[in-house]
Amino acid sequence: MADSLSQQIQKALSSIDACADLEILDELRVSLLGRQGRITALAQTIGTLPVEQRKAFGADVNRAKEVLQSALEKRQALLARVAIERRLKEEFVDCTLPPAPELTGFLHPLTRTQQDLEWIFRDMGFRHFAGPNIENEFLNFTALNMPEQHPARQMHDTFFVDIPAAPEGRFLLRTQTSPVQIRAMRAWGAPLRVFSIGRTYRSDADATHTPMFHQLEGLVIEEGIHFGHMKSCITEVCARFFNINALTLRLRPSFFPFTDPSAEVDIPCQRKEGRLIMGEGDQWLEILGCGMVHPKVLEYGGLDPKKHQGFAFAFGIDRLAMLKYCLPDLRSFFDGDRRWLESCGFSPYVIGDR
Ligand code: DAH
Repeated sequence: MADSLSQQIQKALSSIDACADLEILDELRVSLLGRQGRITALAQTIGTLPVEQRKAFGADVNRAKEVLQSALEKRQALLARVAIERRLKEEFVDCTLPPAPELTGFLHPLTRTQQDLEWIFRDMGFRHFAGPNIENEFLNFTALNMPEQHPARQMHDTFFVDIPAAPEGRFLLRTQTSPVQIRAMRAWGAPLRVFSIGRTYRSDADATHTPMFHQLEGLVIEEGIHFGHMKSCITEVCARFFNINALTLRLRPSFFPFTDPSAEVDIPCQRKEGRLIMGEGDQWLEILGCGMVHPKVLEYGGLDPKKHQGFAFAFGIDRLAMLKYCLPDLRSFFDGDRRWLESCGFSPYVIGDR
C-alpha cells in the first residue's frame, strides 16, 4: 500500500512538473486534493484498513498531501511569473515612437510662442516667477506707482472680482503682469533677473483685443545697470524670437507710471508678396513697452532705490504670435476650432520652428 502511495506521489509530482498551464495545473490540484480527488479518496479508505496499519497509513497520506500541496504552490508561482513575463514582452510599447498621425494633436500657436520665449529667457539666465491671476488692487496698481485716482487705472478697463476686499484693496483679474515685479522683488531680493508669462484681463474685444490675453514681463535688477543694457537685452530677445541675425530696434520715448524713463519699442518690417517680413524694411511695428524701474516701485518691492537700479519690459504674447506666424485675427485663437489648429500645424514633436 505504502509503495503504491509513493508511486502515486511520484506520478503526480512529475505531472505537476510537466504542467505548463495555470488552468490545467488547477485541474490537477482538484483531481489530487479536491473533495473527490485521488489523495482525498485514499484518506477515506483508512477505515477499511486493519487497526494496526491505520496510524502509519494516515501519516503517509498526510505527508503526501503536504508534498503535493507544496509542489503545486511552487509550480503555480513559477507559471504565474512566466505568464507575466510573457505578457510584458508581448505587450511592450515603445514610448519613444510618435503615435499614429490620426491620433496626434497640434500645439496652439500661443503654446508654441510661450515655449519659444521661455526657452530664450531661461537661456539668457532669467528665472520664471508665476503670479496669481486674481490680484489685489495694491499690487496691480498702487505698488506700481499708480495711486488711487491715477488716470491710468481707468484706462485699464478692469474686471473686479466679487469677493470681499482685503486690506490691500479690492480683488481684480490682473490687468497686467507687472505686479509680478513687486512679488519677485519681495520674494527674491536683488540682484534679480526674472520673467513671468501669464494671462491678463481687460474689458476689451475686437480683431486685435480679447478680454483675456497674455503678457510676458521681464525685470532685471543689478548694480550699475542702465538704459543701454536694457536695449541690448531686448534686442537680443527679439532677434532670437524672430530669427533675425542683425536687428536694429527703434525706441520711442513714452510714459508708464512704473518706469522712468520709459520707452516703446518698434521692430522694422515690410510686406513682401503678401507676407509680413520682420527685421528689415521701412515700416515699424510696436512690440513692447519698457523703461528703468521707478524708484517708488523699487521701494514697494522692498529695495533701496539709492542702491539698486533696474529695467523692466513687457510684451503682449498674443501679438507676438500673430506677427511671427502671420495670424490676422486674434479671436481665432480662442474659437477652439480644431481645423484652425491643424492649419497652423505646430507638431508637438518638432522643437523650434515648423
Ligand atoms: N504693464 C504695461 C501694460 O500692460 C506694459 C509694460 C510697459 C510693462 C512698460 C513694463 C514696462 O514692465 O516697463 O500696459
